[in-house]
Amino acid sequence: MENFRDFLKHADIKFKECKNHFAVKNPANGEILAFIKKTNANEISQILTGMQKAQKEWANLNALQRSDIMLKWHEKIVQNREMLAEIMTLEQGKAIKEARGEIDYAASFVRWFAEECRRIDGDILTPLKQTQKLFVINQPIGVCAAITPWNFPSSMITRKAAPALACGCAMIVKSASATPLSAYALQILAQKAGIPNDVFIIVNGDASEISDAFCKSDTVRKITFTGSTEVGSKIYEKSAKTIKKISLELGGNAPVIVFDDANLQKAVDGVIASKFRNSGQTCVCANRVYVQSGIYDALCEKLVKKVKEMKIGEGIKEDTDFGPLINESAVEKVEELIKDALNKGAKCLLGGKRSTLGGTFFEPTILNGATSKMKFAKEEIFGPLCPIFKFENIDDVINQANDTKYGLASYIFTENLNTITKVSEALEYGMVGVNTGLISNEVAPFGGVKMSGLGREGSKYGIAEYMQKKYICVDIK
Ligand code: SIN
Repeated sequence: MENFRDFLKHADIKFKECKNHFAVKNPANGEILAFIKKTNANEISQILTGMQKAQKEWANLNALQRSDIMLKWHEKIVQNREMLAEIMTLEQGKAIKEARGEIDYAASFVRWFAEECRRIDGDILTPLKQTQKLFVINQPIGVCAAITPWNFPSSMITRKAAPALACGCAMIVKSASATPLSAYALQILAQKAGIPNDVFIIVNGDASEISDAFCKSDTVRKITFTGSTEVGSKIYEKSAKTIKKISLELGGNAPVIVFDDANLQKAVDGVIASKFRNSGQTCVCANRVYVQSGIYDALCEKLVKKVKEMKIGEGIKEDTDFGPLINESAVEKVEELIKDALNKGAKCLLGGKRSTLGGTFFEPTILNGATSKMKFAKEEIFGPLCPIFKFENIDDVINQANDTKYGLASYIFTENLNTITKVSEALEYGMVGVNTGLISNEVAPFGGVKMSGLGREGSKYGIAEYMQKKYICVDIK
């Protein structure tokens, strides 16, 4: 396999220290992987001017032409799966098997929207007058900007860029500073597939300078952001002046509710899948696990036994299950939440401390005796800490689960159809997993309610976020 540096040399990436560039480090060992150019606000404005023209040409291709080019992009991602996974693990830290899974996930959005772009159908409306024909057509919104996170360095880009490109928009992406290499790798493959250079562009640099440049620009007609609720709300506010379309995929505080009648093995597997995916660094990760009293001790015991078998280590090693956390402040946040909970009476069943591997490696942690007074009842954890709460009755647990400003993902485990129906309808969340801890895929609408965001990504609904409707009234008299 080609060396990742040779692969990335097709993008504007340096491997020696360089003025006006920042370093990308491997979180597993601190090694510097590359240096990335910082793009400033003036340069962004020039780039956007070039994109405006390119977008129109791209939108003028017919749907089949765009679809074919995107399918080539998909093919190239699949062909380079191993290289892309390696790059991702090196810069982000996640276990290589999870990185491979993420490349598949990223590729799935490109394929899905390459297929969807052939079905951007409009409507013919019933007119009030016999002499009129009324049409509704869908048109691309224009130049779009994405700000993407470090926890899913590839799939959060394709989940945004693929629908945008499919319907004829151009997309500029400010990727996370911790994980720009995965973003440039996708750009290289997009160009090789025939996507014009000015239609899909990756930039990096000072996050607030670039984000402000996007928000202020009249050229950018849509911003899509994945990240914290705090930053998302600022972007929303700043975009108001230029009346942009906005999609926000923000924080979560996912409840997992395990009822006495749940299949215990399925519940344990589901809690692990949802809690410990990406070392707990996803916005759909279990944040509060509510277990009914009759099954509480058995679930805690089985969960601890299974998590103990999982291996912490450098993500690049084939047998690693948990890589390092992204940075020191992620570790400090988990430590703070654990300390707060232990002070308020929680008991540590597993982990609770930094790993002996040093750096930002943290042991997967399970606490029981969690209560609503503990900080994680209200705050997003974003790390490998699993707090377990005990509950007695269904109405009470629904109230507790909904007692948060967030509303992204939620999960329930039960074999009873009435409970499934009642609870999944009552949960104030954009997504509910029933008897599973893994709900994300390209077919499903991903997104939240309340402070977890606006809009949906993926699915047949995802492409509408990048289009606007035009009504045409034809008088034929
Ligand atoms: C995220 O954590 O931002 C995305 C997770 C997913 O797509 O499953």
